[in-house]
Amino acid sequence: MNSVGIIGAGQMGAGIAQVSAAAGYRVFLADVSLEVAEKAKADIGKRLSRLVEKEKMEAKAAETALGRIEPVGSFEPMASAGLIIEAATEREEVKRTIFGEVGKVLGHKTVLASNTSSIPITRLAQASPDPERFIGVHFFNPVPVMDLIEVIKGLATSTETVETVRGYGKALGKQMVFANDAPGFIVNRILLPMLNEACFALGEGVASIEDIDTACRLGLNHPMGPLTLADFIGLDTCLEITRVLHETTGDPKYRPAPLLVKYVEAGWYGRKSGRGFYDYSGDSPKPTR
Ligand code: 3HC
Repeated sequence: MNSVGIIGAGQMGAGIAQVSAAAGYRVFLADVSLEVAEKAKADIGKRLSRLVEKEKMEAKAAETALGRIEPVGSFEPMASAGLIIEAATEREEVKRTIFGEVGKVLGHKTVLASNTSSIPITRLAQASPDPERFIGVHFFNPVPVMDLIEVIKGLATSTETVETVRGYGKALGKQMVFANDAPGFIVNRILLPMLNEACFALGEGVASIEDIDTACRLGLNHPMGPLTLADFIGLDTCLEITRVLHETTGDPKYRPAPLLVKYVEAGWYGRKSGRGFYDYSGDSPKPTR
């Protein structure tokens, strides 16, 4: 396999494109339009330049990696790819539409993967042309920094499909873990209840935003406090995953914290919208309550 297709050029898709190109793969990068994919490539170029400035990458290697990324305005060029990874917005109908469209050009051996953070793989596979060649490949943000890929097998996923992804993850130098198709897989099943609980604690007045974060940073040695991390992931995404855990298990322990729901209703999505538990408009984030 020497080329991959990436659908969705946002934070996750662009990160996956960057690490794939750096590992030597030719990358076809698609989004809602060619212009969006081209803009994402330009941003990847800036991130690679920063790595060169910090002497983490040779200038020639950065240039070669960037040259391997081809923004595309349709899925046709991906027909030759060995693996196509969908990293579009976390909405099931959006993903289903993409799988239907990309299915029309899918090569006979191409593996189709989703970077979904919580939608069941077995269910998503039903929108793909071949559930045996469908799999979950879950990266973590920021993709170039985080060493993990969580690989999720759907009910019909074949061993050959798992092996294709294993080879790809190995080439990227990532550590892989393998999970069955259960709600939240491994990481989000454990992480989201913690972030949700931090929202409950804040809503109940247990402590301030800063003290909840400081407590977990220093008391648990986490790199970010839970409210900072929730802002970093996106409060809308956190709520979406929590709702999937709640709805698919029916277990009330996963019910979303009212404060998290309220922030999302207010359009306070965290870092990406400029405001969440912190305000990002100044030089450094300031707690909002
Ligand atoms: N993209 C690329 N590189 C980045 C980056 C980004 N967005 N943000 C930071 N980095 C790099 C920096 O360049 C720096 O690299 P260097 O050591 O080579 O110079 C390194 O990361 C450390 O960055 P900083 O010194 O600026 O800052 P920190 O030491 O505070 O680290 C962090 C930043 C790596 C983001 C760290 O705070 C961290 O690990 N936070 C937790 C992140 C996390 O938990 N991610 C998983 C979220 S869950 C998820 O993604 C699943 C989804 O389904 C919800």
